Amino acid sequence: MSFFIAGTGSALPGTVVTNDDLAKFLDTSDEWIYARTGIRRRRVLTDERLDDLAIRSARIALEDAGVSGGEVDLILCATMRGDTFTPSLACTIAEAIGSTAPAFDLNAACVGVLYCMEVADSFIASGKAETVLIVSAEAMSKLLDWTDRASCVLFGDGSGAMVVKKGEGRLAGVLSTKPDSRVIRMPNIEGMNSPYNKIAQEPLAMHMDGGEVYKFAVNAMGRCIEQVCARAGLAPADIDWYLPHQANIRIIDASLKKFRIDKSKVLTNIADYGNMSATSVMVLLDEFAKKGTFRKGEKLLFVAFGGGLTSGALIVRWAR
Ligand code: UT7
Repeated sequence: MSFFIAGTGSALPGTVVTNDDLAKFLDTSDEWIYARTGIRRRRVLTDERLDDLAIRSARIALEDAGVSGGEVDLILCATMRGDTFTPSLACTIAEAIGSTAPAFDLNAACVGVLYCMEVADSFIASGKAETVLIVSAEAMSKLLDWTDRASCVLFGDGSGAMVVKKGEGRLAGVLSTKPDSRVIRMPNIEGMNSPYNKIAQEPLAMHMDGGEVYKFAVNAMGRCIEQVCARAGLAPADIDWYLPHQANIRIIDASLKKFRIDKSKVLTNIADYGNMSATSVMVLLDEFAKKGTFRKGEKLLFVAFGGGLTSGALIVRWAR
């Protein structure tokens, strides 16, 4: 027994930052950013807290699923950094929705939601949970070097959520890592005023070798699609909807090219939101679920790559 997706939600910051806005303080342009990435604009946190976005998206998903906070058996939150180290974002959400279920954060960078879905599957399969709330929340704007035009133009902030319940839905999943501490690296700064610390502080903010990430991403997403389809006994052409991580439209196109998939099956919203790390696939799912795109019984394939380096894919049959 596995899970099906019973409800979805999302919450985004109110502030929209266009490529032209960035060109006011960076040596860049809408033409360069759009042509190289497919991004036109992104949402950025200004006077809102990440906690509040996460709670909002969780509440929307719970309402969509018709589930109360007290009925949730496990809360998982995919994030690289919440507003506080403790309580975790998952515990902050639990407090807000009135849940005493186990709650913890999980960091698998942009693949975090897929990792959470596999953890939820394990809890449900072992009888430890029947209803799991999965939330993603990322404040990328607070982790970036805003003087580095090669990375800061790529990202946006946001939160998404889904409720999964015991039942038939998940058909197969694959998760993997190709450990590499240099290609994408985001050091933290906390604790550096310890009088005992003898390690020099690395500069805060994202350091990324874009070309290397690009190559990894295209290979990893292609490999994950092949593996997850093989595990489900399906061919890539049997999938009804592809929900790829929204990092770069060229990465999405290049990783799917060899499967000769009808492009209308590949869902994207990168133009409006950029790369929101773990949150990207959640907001994509919520947006197209709310539009009524998915029909009962259709097969959705999630695929993502990210810092770590992590990658993964999941196939879920739409059950609503
Ligand atoms: O979770 C991690 C997610 N990270 C990613 O997904 C990143 C994956 N990588 C990429 O998406 C691409 O490698 C980038 C979009 C980052 C870069 O695209 P590219 O086609 O690989 O460009 P490039 O790095 O080869 O740079 C080409 C030129 C360079 O100038 P020169 O050396 O040719 O004079 C860059 O300095 O573009 C320049 N450049 C920019 N120009 C205008 C780099 N960033 C910008 C910019 N605006 N924002």
